[in-house]
Amino acid sequence: MRIYQVKDYKEMSRKAANIISAQVIMKPDAVLGLATGSTPIGTYRQLTEWYQKGDLDFSEVRSVNLDEYKGLSADNDQSYAYFMGANLFDHVNIKPENTHIPNGLNEDIEGECKRYDAVISALGGVDLQLLGIGNNGHIGFNEPGEAFQTGTHCVKLTENTIAANARFFASMDDVPKFAYTMGVGNIMQARAILLVASGEAKAEAVYNSFFGPVTPRVPASILQFHQNVYLVADEAALSLCRANHCI
Ligand code: PGA
Repeated sequence: MRIYQVKDYKEMSRKAANIISAQVIMKPDAVLGLATGSTPIGTYRQLTEWYQKGDLDFSEVRSVNLDEYKGLSADNDQSYAYFMGANLFDHVNIKPENTHIPNGLNEDIEGECKRYDAVISALGGVDLQLLGIGNNGHIGFNEPGEAFQTGTHCVKLTENTIAANARFFASMDDVPKFAYTMGVGNIMQARAILLVASGEAKAEAVYNSFFGPVTPRVPASILQFHQNVYLVADEAALSLCRANHCI
């Protein structure tokens, strides 16, 4: 694992965008695994800026996103498909047909999971997977549990997550109760992994994931078994690693 210790969110975003750019420049038709959440927004903004300056070309890039809420259409402004449009896809020259996200409207759970695994395989696997990390060490919607899940699967959202999301919806009933997510196995098959983390709230998850025991109770800890992980984190997110003399 290579750790890039940066000052703050802005530097994290720039460094992460540098790594993604390097991938796209070295392999113009790279398969990027993409993530949603607040952490990657600055990275996408930086990539957009470099694209607009003419330094980056996404015309051959393919992408697969980690996850999507079940029951939300791509035009619902809470869906991850909408997020990707608003934060990256609508601003760069990636071809819509080259972007892939689980289909939240597919009611056939088994069919959708198989379809998405087949999409990833047909692309030849992921070259670089971008990941955020949850405060509890989750990656994608792989929450702490008793076992690691391998392939794409449908997860029941915890009461906590549903309650936290409620503020974005008209009523509690509108909040999705399930989500499709790549499994930890899909993530581990990526040829390289770029995990971004910013802020004190992530310090424990980062420490436990990279310097604690490998356990499904901390899903990101499995990344310790991956050969090619880049961790880009700011001082606050790395504070516990530093306090424990791990870095
Ligand atoms: P965040 O979420 O970037 O909004 O903190 C990360 C995650 O939960 O994976």
